[in-house]
Amino acid sequence: MTMTKTEIEHIPEYELHEMANTQIAALLAESFQGYPQGRTHYKQMPSFRVLFSDHDELVGHAAVDHRQVSMGGKLYQIFGLADVCVREISQHAGVGSQIMAYIRNLAKEHEIDFLMAFSEDREFYHRFGFEVFTGFSKWLVLLNNHSLGLVNRKIEGSLLVAPLKRGLKANMGDLDLMGTVF
Ligand SMILES: CC(C)(COP(=O)(O)OP(=O)(O)OC[C@H]1O[C@@H](n2cnc3c(N)ncnc32)[C@H](O)[C@@H]1OP(=O)(O)O)[C@@H](O)C(=O)NCCC(=O)NCCS
Repeated sequence: MTMTKTEIEHIPEYELHEMANTQIAALLAESFQGYPQGRTHYKQMPSFRVLFSDHDELVGHAAVDHRQVSMGGKLYQIFGLADVCVREISQHAGVGSQIMAYIRNLAKEHEIDFLMAFSEDREFYHRFGFEVFTGFSKWLVLLNNHSLGLVNRKIEGSLLVAPLKRGLKANMGDLDLMGTVF
């Protein structure tokens, strides 16, 4: 797709073309210390990306995993967010907020129950309705492209959860991610 101005869009992972992948890898390497060079995801591919571009230049990014999880014994649909980042020279100009608002709107439009993100950056996420999850969580550990096993342990403040529907809360019992962390 040709982008000629500031634009925000979401693209399924399987539709990303080579140039988008190259730009995403460069932005992730610039944004996160130690991010594997030339890679667009850490361990597992997301479902789609939200990309903010300015005159064909990638300025902001979020990877989103659409998945079913279990919390308190009930099934919910979530958007799991990863690698939310904005180019350093473009930070504090509202791009990150636009990306979060875009994801939230998309999720609400499609009846998603929760947004979730593993992050220490609480100040940023709190602005968008995320609260700290405290409780046990289970997930699949991948190491060097192999499934290593399941972890089931108490999460100490690193998982942030935003409920999107009336009656839902960030803490509704033990959480089974039914897959890897995102
Ligand atoms: C976090 C990040 C995505 C925010 O993007 P942004 O475009 O600067 O966000 P906004 O301009 O919409 O800022 C909204 C508010 O979030 C908060 N915020 C922004 N950047 C922040 C940061 N690095 N740390 C903590 N809070 C931050 C501020 O309160 C900011 O308001 P302000 O600009 O009035 O100070 C960006 O700083 C970034 O890419 N950081 C490096 C990657 C990272 O750590 N990502 C964390 C999520 S995985």
